[in-house]
Amino acid sequence: MTFGIINPIYTSKVKKIIQENYRVKTIEIDNNIPKALPGQFLMVWIPGVGERPMSIGNNFPLTISVADVGKVSKEICALKVGNKISYRGPLGKEFVIAPKTKRVLVIGGGYGIVPMYFLSKCATEDGVEAVAVVGGRNEKDIIYEKQLFAVCKEVFLTTDDGSRGKKGTVMEEVKWLVESKKFDCVYCCGPERMMEAVAKICSQHRVACQVSVERYMKCGIGVCGSCDINGKFACIDGPVMSGEQALSLADFGKAHRDASGVLHK
Ligand SMILES: Cc1cc2nc3c(=O)[nH]c(=O)nc-3n(C[C@H](O)[C@H](O)[C@H](O)COP(=O)(O)OP(=O)(O)OC[C@H]3O[C@@H](n4cnc5c(N)ncnc54)[C@H](O)[C@@H]3O)c2cc1C
Ligand code: FES
Repeated sequence: MTFGIINPIYTSKVKKIIQENYRVKTIEIDNNIPKALPGQFLMVWIPGVGERPMSIGNNFPLTISVADVGKVSKEICALKVGNKISYRGPLGKEFVIAPKTKRVLVIGGGYGIVPMYFLSKCATEDGVEAVAVVGGRNEKDIIYEKQLFAVCKEVFLTTDDGSRGKKGTVMEEVKWLVESKKFDCVYCCGPERMMEAVAKICSQHRVACQVSVERYMKCGIGVCGSCDINGKFACIDGPVMSGEQALSLADFGKAHRDASGVLHK
């Protein structure tokens, strides 16, 4: 069902639910949006509770993966198969694979791996080789592992405690990969300090890089200003930006605004 014209709200049914780990659920929505692109997001609405941006994890069927961390995510995670789910989108700027790209490196941390899987899938379908580095605090935090192995040429896993893959952060794997192998572009989504470190190393080695900036969003369409990051609106100027653009923003990796706009460093 569609309301409005410019920024419609869609209501579909929950088709399938997959429990990814102790707090993340993947929700397949009974709708296909072929024009939805990796890096774009949906504003998922729970009437009477609120609306939150969620990265698109697939377009066919439309898929999101939600970590149960607070007010709205808890209600989204409580949905059952057959329940209605309302959303706006696809919104925001997507990851771009430039023409003639042969090989890309995708890096994801936490639920940041969701758009990275979608991107790897699209890249592989277009004949581009994708190599993935996935990080988490421990083995339970690693999601989408099977899906990534299915579409990527190689997958490197890291955990802070060494319970899965190499012990440490993604950065150790990223450093040697960027230094020793040729990638046409590096894509990253996850904690902002990780994206900042990735953008810096790519800048040093003159490798193109794109990151996804996460800011508190209310409207998702460039009206309210709550997602401001140094004069850019993450919802329409992003969430995907080049690494160089993100590094030029003073707050990137350093500060973010809360729901009332207060800046936290
Ligand atoms: C472009 C974009 C894409 C996003 N994609 C996803 C996605 O694919 N999956 C997903 O689960 N979320 C995603 N988010 C985050 C999501 O929009 C919400 O911020 C998150 O679900 C928390 O909302 P809430 O109402 O549940 O929590 P709130 O009630 O708003 O917050 C409750 C508490 O949880 C804390 N909190 C907020 N986010 C997190 C977090 N990630 N981890 C731990 N604590 C947290 C808050 O600081 C607060 O203390 C995305 C955000 C953006 C901007
Ligand atoms: S969320 Fe309202 S301007 Fe970006």
